[in-house]
Amino acid sequence: METKILSSDINSILLAAKLISSNEIIGFPTETVYGLGGNAFSEEAVRKIFTAKNRPADNPLIVHISSLKQLDDVANAYSDLAKKLMASFWPGPLSLILKAKDCVPKIVTAGLDTVAVRMPAHPVARDLISKAKVPIAAPSANISGKPSSTTANHVYEDFKGKIPLIIDGGECQFGLESTVVAVDKEITILRPGAITKEMLESFANVNYDIYQNNGAPRSPGVKHPHYHPNARIVLLKGSKREIRQKAILQQGSHVGFFGRSELFEGLSCKTKGLLEEDNFLYTYAEKLYAFFRECDYLGVETIVIHEVAKLGLGHAIMDRITKAADEIV
Ligand code: TXA
Ligand code: MG
Repeated sequence: METKILSSDINSILLAAKLISSNEIIGFPTETVYGLGGNAFSEEAVRKIFTAKNRPADNPLIVHISSLKQLDDVANAYSDLAKKLMASFWPGPLSLILKAKDCVPKIVTAGLDTVAVRMPAHPVARDLISKAKVPIAAPSANISGKPSSTTANHVYEDFKGKIPLIIDGGECQFGLESTVVAVDKEITILRPGAITKEMLESFANVNYDIYQNNGAPRSPGVKHPHYHPNARIVLLKGSKREIRQKAILQQGSHVGFFGRSELFEGLSCKTKGLLEEDNFLYTYAEKLYAFFRECDYLGVETIVIHEVAKLGLGHAIMDRITKAADEIV
């Protein structure tokens, strides 16, 4: 199958919507990462998503909607707290776990009685959903276990020949996947993201509960290996001074350094992603996966990154890089 990459004009969005209506799957931009989307009501389309990604069947998908009206098509009985979160953070990078309607195929929810729902903020994603006239089930557009795609080219690398169309919406704004929360009296963060604990705290008590009491993850996706490029990842911890000293020991022509420029400046390496102080955490999140992929492309053997404070967006960054790290120094 030929895979086309088209710029995000109205004609491409109409073509993409037509493909979705005929149960094909396509790559499309969102403000977090690119999605691999299909008609959420079609078992056939959703099966294609699982096959193309090589995704384990026990890992449920997020259903993307373009209007609150569409929410009633997929979810039942949401609480006042859930409504408040929707009013404050939708459209945007927040996925809510809600009671699923029976019409949502079990393949989407991996057999759970809940469904994750998100209204993306990206205008192309919203337009696509509204033109397709169905909610779109979409995981991140990467082969399972690889870093999520933050450009159309990343999607092409992973799905060339397997899907008919990728809509190119440029680089994703956030670069990290959405925050996933379950809501009852409290808010439970199952996957941290750009909607942070601090932002949610004005609505209710918030806790991180990646694992249930019995040790099973509440969000099945977190137990699968994640976010790994081919290169080995070394995560440096400590004060700036300690990190700089540890980085000096790591340098060499097989290395890719990613992080604050003051920590890695002047060191020998194959490639560097150096970030400045301005909007440091946002840039870290935005560029991280693209750097991982660039390193694979260049044949870098060791990627050296450094920890950040677990505050605000720092929590989501630490979640991803701790999962990705092969060695913590
Ligand atoms: O930003 C994002 O969320 C991107 C874009 C495309 O929207 N999508 C994304 O999807 O990251 P994916 O499939 O890579 O991650 C979905 C996460 C997984 O960890 C999955 O286990 C969890 O959401 N999830 C989905 N449905 C769930 C449910 N009913 N209960 C608990 N966790 C759920
Ligand atoms: Mg994913």
